Order: sequence, then structure tokens, then C-alpha cells
Amino acid sequence: MTSKWAPDTWRKFPVMQMPDYADAAKLAAVESQLAGYPPLVFAGEARKLKKRLAKVAEGKGFLLQGGDCAESFAEHSADNIRDFFRVFLQMAVVLTFAGGQPVVKVGRVAGQFAKPRSSPTETIDGVEYPIYRGDIVNDSAATVEGRKPDPERQIMAYRQSAATLNLLRAFAQGGYANLEHVHQWMLGFLKDSPASEQYNDLANRLTDTLGFMRAVGITAETAPQLRTTDFFTSHEALLLGYEQAMTRVDSTSGDYYATSGHMLWIGDRTRQLDHAHVEFARGIKNPIGLKCGPSLKPDELIKLIDVLNPDNEAGRLTLIARFGADKVEKHLPELIRAVKREGRAVVWSCDPMHGNTIKSTSGYKTRPFDAVMSEVRRFMSVHQAEGTHAGGVHIEMTGKDVTECTGGLRAITDEDLNDRYHTFCDPRLNAAQALELAFLLADELKKEQTLRPRKVDDENVEAAE
Ligand code: PEP
Ligand code: CO
Repeated sequence: MTSKWAPDTWRKFPVMQMPDYADAAKLAAVESQLAGYPPLVFAGEARKLKKRLAKVAEGKGFLLQGGDCAESFAEHSADNIRDFFRVFLQMAVVLTFAGGQPVVKVGRVAGQFAKPRSSPTETIDGVEYPIYRGDIVNDSAATVEGRKPDPERQIMAYRQSAATLNLLRAFAQGGYANLEHVHQWMLGFLKDSPASEQYNDLANRLTDTLGFMRAVGITAETAPQLRTTDFFTSHEALLLGYEQAMTRVDSTSGDYYATSGHMLWIGDRTRQLDHAHVEFARGIKNPIGLKCGPSLKPDELIKLIDVLNPDNEAGRLTLIARFGADKVEKHLPELIRAVKREGRAVVWSCDPMHGNTIKSTSGYKTRPFDAVMSEVRRFMSVHQAEGTHAGGVHIEMTGKDVTECTGGLRAITDEDLNDRYHTFCDPRLNAAQALELAFLLADELKKEQTLRPRKVDDENVEAAE
């Protein structure tokens, strides 16, 4: 893969997980329509995120990445976006204040519509349907018509992404994220949950600290980083025709950037070295994520890094480990050692969701919260043992009080799954579980800091720019 790259060179490579569109002319028309639409994000923003991630790669900061497994057209509402953002801010403040780390905030949002699937079809009541591949491709309801991939859906996904991003930008910059509102981010239904007590305690301490800062002249008016936050978007770069249409030359640098989101990742099923998804990702300058599952061998990982980050640019590549709680200790150390031996700058992040999916006795796809927590703990302790920085977490979560993953302090049982199981794809952590996970992470980060104190020149990455 050293040949010349262009946004369409991926078309010459074998490709997995792409829908079969019946009408090629209609697809081409949609793609050229999209290519004329405004970008959703700007190259300068992607560069800013890359700078932040470069700090994380150096051991200074933590990447919080999360959101829906799959966004849906039906659940597109201001309330959903706001509630997700609130829990996300809560998690970030826990990690910053209790964990002592600057947090880089990246949503799985405003573009997370296309899903890789383990089988191309499914059979329901004796009828075989094409599999649901995300709202950007087809309809989740099992009807023969709805399951046909429809290119027009790409336009709808683009418009929904734009509207979602618009609201998120307003929340992040318009005062909602002001640290003085730390108590107001608490969601009503969380008020009696065990994690909320811990959160309120932290919020009280933070409010006291802000009071002290105000007394010495540092206020939200004088220090913008108390008033606003930087929030970035990400999704899996799966539907390559859409991604190509949204890839543009940045006039400042002359480089190509995907403008469908700030950070794009390559899924565990589409990371073959000589295939289309890796070919596409190598040429865009955005920060890139690479999912690393149990089948990834150390030498293959190094070859992928050669292709995806030939200049060894810190912040370019985030390796997202997703092994399953019982497999982390088997696979992660050898990958970390290979990366260290070759001197590659990467962010190591942990996806504790995708290796821990099981079928419950009640028939639902679920994830035991214990297994999620255990994978995070093991990921952190492997890094502590290897002397490397556990740089982030990648989770599927929602701000709603759903019952999709079993366990947690407000223990959700198998029988409860039926109550509020709303996901369009994989089971997500609900707001209480997400907050609980943030406190665990904060404890682990504190542990890492006692083992590997941060250097004195550490600065607040947001303030430093
Ligand atoms: C995902 O993140 O939704 C996903 C499908 O992950 P993976 O590629 O790691 O299975
Ligand atoms: Co998923």
C-alpha cells in the first residue's frame, strides 16, 4: 500500500461489510449530491483533536469516547442528545477532578450510523431477510422492502448528523458545559442511585474549589475553560462511499480530511491490511482509531501501524483494545510490547463492550456490567505492569435509563432486560452504569499516577492552546 492515494483508491481493493445496493446509478447520484454538501467538521478541528491525543499518547491526559452503538432516525430528539451530553460531562468531570487527568471528549455521535454484522442475512419465522446494517443503509424493522439498502438514507444520515452536531456545539460552547453547573448535569432519574451520592459529593468539592478560585480572581468570565468545553465527534468509517463523498481537501494544508466526523475508526472486522477500509483510512489526515480484537497478532499490528501512521505522528493513531474480560491478559501484553519495541507513539484505549456480549437466558443480547468493569480493571493493570499509559476508554452508552446491560449498583437482572431495551444494535450502559464506570476509572487513574507520577511540566491541555 505505498501506491498513490486518492479518496477513491479504496474501490480497487477487496471490501467487506458493504451493502449490496440494487441501483448503482441511484447510489452514484446520492454520492455526488453528498460531495457537494458542506462539511460537517473542519480540518482545523481534527488537527486540534490530534494535538490533544498526542498529549494522551505522551501519558498526559485521558480519552473518553462513547455514545450509541448505532444512532437511529427514530430516536433523534433534543432530549436524547442533551441527556447523553449530560452524562458524558459528568463522566468527564469525574475523570478530571477525581482522576486528576485532562479529559479529551469524543462522542460516538453525529455520524455513527453504519454497522458491521456477523451475518449478511437473518431468518425470522422462516423468512430470510437481508441483515440490518444501520439506519444509513436500511430499516431495522424486518420487512422485505425495508431491509433493501436505500442510498437516500445516506442523505438522511448526513442531515441528522448536521442537526445533532449543531446542538452539541451549542451545548459545549454556549454555557451548558460551564463547570458552575456541575450539579445541574445530574439527571432526575439518577437522583436516588448510589452513583449519584458519590457524584454529589464530588460536585460539592468542585463547587468549593470554584468558590476558592473565584475568590482569587479566576472565574468562568476570566477563564473560558471553566465556561466551555471542546467536544469532538467520531464514528466507524464503514460505509466508504459516504466517507469518500465527505472527504475534502483542506485549503490550509492541502491535505485530505474526512469531514463526516473529527475522528474515524476502523472496526475489528474490516482491518485487513490489503483491504479497502485500511486503504481509505491511510490517506485522510484525521485522527484514526483501530479496533484490536483477539485475532490481531503483534506483527500484523505493526504492519498496520506502518500503513496508517508511517510518520509515527503522535495523536494520529488510537488503538482500541476489545478482547473480552477473560482475554485481555492473554493478548494485550504482547501487543503493548511490540508497539514499545518498535517505538510507536499510540494512544491505548479500552473498549470493554464488544468482547463481552452474551445472550441472556431471556433471549436478549446483553453485557454483564461486571465483565465490563473487569475488562477495564484488567486493561489498566496490564498497563501498570508494562509501565505504559492506559490512555482511554471507548464505550457504548446512553443518557437514558435503559435496561440493556445486566448488573450495576442498581442491579439490573435478566428479567429486567425486557423493561426498557431500546438499542438499535448492541446493549449500552445506562446513565447510572456509565457514571459508576467513571468512578472506577478515576480510582485506577489515581493508582497509575502514584506508580508513574506525571511530569512537573504537565499543563492543562485545553488551557495551553
Ligand atoms: C462497534 O464499535 O460498534 C463495533 C462494531 O466494534 P468492533 O469493530 O470492535 O466489533
Ligand atoms: Co456495538
